[in-house]
Amino acid sequence: MSMPAALPGALIDTFGRVHDSLRISVTDRCNIRCSYCMPETGAPFRPHSEILTYEEIERFVRIAVSLGVTKVRITGGEPLVRKDLPALVAMLRRIDGLSEMALTTNGVLLKQQATALHAAGLRRLNVHLDTLDRERFLHIARRDDLGNVLDGLAAAREAGFDPIKINAVALKGLTEPDIVPLALFGRKHDFEVRFIEFMPLDGQHLWDRSKVLTMDEILAVLEREVGPLEAIPDADPRAPALEYRYQDGGGRVGFIASVSRPFCLNCNRIRLTSDGRIRYCLFAMEETDVRELLRNGSPDSEVAQTIASTVRGKWLGHEIASAGFVAPPRPMYSIGG
Ligand code: 5AD
Ligand code: SF4
Repeated sequence: MSMPAALPGALIDTFGRVHDSLRISVTDRCNIRCSYCMPETGAPFRPHSEILTYEEIERFVRIAVSLGVTKVRITGGEPLVRKDLPALVAMLRRIDGLSEMALTTNGVLLKQQATALHAAGLRRLNVHLDTLDRERFLHIARRDDLGNVLDGLAAAREAGFDPIKINAVALKGLTEPDIVPLALFGRKHDFEVRFIEFMPLDGQHLWDRSKVLTMDEILAVLEREVGPLEAIPDADPRAPALEYRYQDGGGRVGFIASVSRPFCLNCNRIRLTSDGRIRYCLFAMEETDVRELLRNGSPDSEVAQTIASTVRGKWLGHEIASAGFVAPPRPMYSIGG
């Protein structure tokens, strides 16, 4: 039985949340090894045969857009380690109805790829960077790549990306020394720095509540050592970041306060993993296989129904703050942040 072309608005869950944002992980591999994300050695990666091709991803996105998705973010692992990512960007760019495309990268390979990514139509970048100190970078990411990331940021600016945001994970006992230098760097170069509260998604289960450096703690440091901040009224209440601006006009900072202020009630996101699973939440314990449908000749309508039913099955939200919280079996690098 064939279904009529699906309608926008199909991705509403049982709590009334409309899903218009899709995060696509294009690989589970990464070229650095942030200690809170990946083990130093032996991270199990999926074989290439299990990873969706660009054609399969493009088809999935086209179907998701027919259901009301308008925004896509490409993530990993580290997306720039996937061969010829600009080709995927160009393919997605041609999909009618997709109004926003963004990329989250660790920036290590950005210098080589910034121009091609921009030429392919990408404009929005989030670059993961926890520290500006070479020794500390080596300590946190276990690779001596700070210079490459800084070169990548400069190349991205040169290529014309706008906005360029910096993602810094906030971990107690680890990243406190980096808060002020990163904030000053952001102000100087007009990058919005976003501090992300450490979430229980590390493959090694290092997380516990006491290791979360919270938004309030970081705000206090910034107000004391950089300058007074004021909250920016939320332009899009469904965007996860809470944003502040310096009262002297020198830029802004953002917070992804997933632990201290969960934003699940406003969630508009679904995720496609690199191996073709749909996830309705970063923390979901279950996922839906869509790779099989994409590979066995199933019609678009069946893929559409699978996306819609995954959204309908979505829970209200994670309960990181509760004692009964159980971390998902899949680490962040294999889900896509
Ligand atoms: N908690 C919070 N953020 C994380 N990231 C990676 N691991 C974690 C974690 N355990 C962030 C990185 C990356 C983004 C996709 O997710 O900053 O840029
Ligand atoms: Fe790689 Fe990102 Fe994980 Fe760091 S946080 S190891 S950059 S996937």
